[in-house]
Amino acid sequence: MKRAIELKVNGEMYPVSVSADRTLLDVIREDLLLTGTKKGCEAGECGACTVLMDGKPVNSCMVLVMDAVGREIVTIEGVGGLEGLHPIQEALVEHGAVQCGYCTPGIVMTAKALLDNQPNPTEREIREALAGNLCRCTGYVKIVEAVLAVSQALSQGRRG
Ligand code: FES
Ligand code: FES
Repeated sequence: MKRAIELKVNGEMYPVSVSADRTLLDVIREDLLLTGTKKGCEAGECGACTVLMDGKPVNSCMVLVMDAVGREIVTIEGVGGLEGLHPIQEALVEHGAVQCGYCTPGIVMTAKALLDNQPNPTEREIREALAGNLCRCTGYVKIVEAVLAVSQALSQGRRG
């Protein structure tokens, strides 16, 4: 049986009719057509499906859509796009930290949550925050460098 619900995603209310056993990931991609959030393992292991829920990164493949009702969801489409990249996206590109790109939306979401809460993380804190976001291409070094660069730019901006 389907239920009529509303989801708040990227500041907009989306009315949808869904079965209660569907995941937030599937509804975001298939009903809302926000396909920037990637589907990888569907088992909570890879982080490709990371979105923010009330500011915290979650694996949307592990969240039942009913549990997202009344929460603030942010997907990669709410962070930046071709018309204006987020500083984390710019830094990933500048540091050559994007290869196939499949992990990138999830990494951006996790890094954004980290920097929103801890603007000056250490390299170790960045690595710990990103531990649940698997990347099979880059070896992580360039990703960590990119996030560090954004944090340094932010702190210079705050001092300036
Ligand atoms: S698709 Fe959700 S953690 Fe891999
Ligand atoms: S760039 Fe290919 S998985 Fe990360």
